Amino acid sequence: MKKMWAGRTAGELNKIADKFNASIPFDKRLYRQDITGSIMHAEMLAAKGIIPAAAKDHIIEGLEGILEDLESGKLEVDLTAEDVHMFVEGALTERIGAEGKMLHTARSRNDQVALDLRMYVKEEIEDLQQLVLEMVEALTDKAEEYKKTVMPGYTHLQRAQPITFGHHLMAYAMMYLRDLDRLKDVYKRTNVSPIGCCALAGTTYLTDRRMEAKGLGFDSICLNSLDGVSDRDYSVELLSALSILMMHFSRLAEEVVLWSSWEFKFVELSDSFTTGSSIMPQKKNPDMAELARGKTGRVYGDLMSLLTVLKGIPLAYNKDMQEDKEPVFDAIDTAKICLQVFAPMIREMKANEENMMHAAQKGFINATDLADYLTKKGMPFREAYKITGTIVSDCVKSGMVLENLPLEEYRKYSDMFEQDLYDAIDLINCVKRRNSEGGTSVESVEAQIQAVRNILEEEKGEWE
Ligand code: ARG
Repeated sequence: MKKMWAGRTAGELNKIADKFNASIPFDKRLYRQDITGSIMHAEMLAAKGIIPAAAKDHIIEGLEGILEDLESGKLEVDLTAEDVHMFVEGALTERIGAEGKMLHTARSRNDQVALDLRMYVKEEIEDLQQLVLEMVEALTDKAEEYKKTVMPGYTHLQRAQPITFGHHLMAYAMMYLRDLDRLKDVYKRTNVSPIGCCALAGTTYLTDRRMEAKGLGFDSICLNSLDGVSDRDYSVELLSALSILMMHFSRLAEEVVLWSSWEFKFVELSDSFTTGSSIMPQKKNPDMAELARGKTGRVYGDLMSLLTVLKGIPLAYNKDMQEDKEPVFDAIDTAKICLQVFAPMIREMKANEENMMHAAQKGFINATDLADYLTKKGMPFREAYKITGTIVSDCVKSGMVLENLPLEEYRKYSDMFEQDLYDAIDLINCVKRRNSEGGTSVESVEAQIQAVRNILEEEKGEWE
């Protein structure tokens, strides 16, 4: 495609430099935003008397035709065009002739690309929010299913205290809810229109930036034109939010990998979300979880590339900024597919309740409750802690567990021990009694589930 900017430069661009310079292989995905923005630009130009109404009609008709043909596959993006903006403008002029050349009045590719990317990011944030909601819903439903299932809770990956699987799953629901909040927050700062900033300094034409912004669904406009064409903060913010989201995925993924191992055998993933081994017939591999864990690195990388691209570049637009798009697209695509895979994978995941209980019965995870028992009978906690520690250490040596140690043995350590100690260290009771707000008791987890469901309802209401 002949360069539209050929003027000052008359010579042909070196072939490899042309390839190096082009962004169309990746920015072609912005065609819809580019065309929508251009239609609005033509509307504004005509409304302000900058181009004739008839030309505007032809431009819009031409642009709508291009959009339709691209969508139906009748027209293909010309990869010899430098970027999507040049491609659309070129295709328009090819279709409607000289009037097509009026479209780029009071506009530069600098504000055009800034607009297209913001429009794209806005739409994607909306999609991401929906997907995060589905993820939170899947976790909450699973938590409801297993709100009575006792498992060991861990610290340092050592069995610590009994919890329920529902409680554990709700912890993740909380994380993803915060991700949702972060996305909503990024949306606010993305929803500001740069169009009309032009190349960097604004324009001598009597344009109406607010009309254009409003027509395109923006809340407000960038108040400084130099900033408007240079600002990619919202993309950095999105990639930060997605990095945190992916960090959550990597933690959940790691637990799914552990839980589905033969060593733990806490959960079984459904066949539709596991793979087999080509050589070891017994294998059922949690590939989806491992991939999500791995892809976290890639999203962190996207954030780092974008920050590094933007670091130290002077105002206003610099070609470095063409490098913003690939990390943004990649991070969005990656987060979306992880959300799409994980929500149904969690829904189909089954807990092995017997194994969880079995693991909870080992490892003395009711030792805190034994110490609390003595404390409640009047012994200072530090002393109770010490006695319990000695009992545990003796049990480890003799192969006993706290539940099976006879009362007369207990009484050798302290005469405060009585028959009711067995009730105090019963795992189900241990869970039941942790009824503080946010705690692991069934009642408390039910309250957490209800609180999250209320938020989900509210969020869904906003979308309707
Ligand atoms: N393809 C460019 C980008 O992605 C569009 C803006 C180019 N502007 C310019 N003055 N060269 O950033």
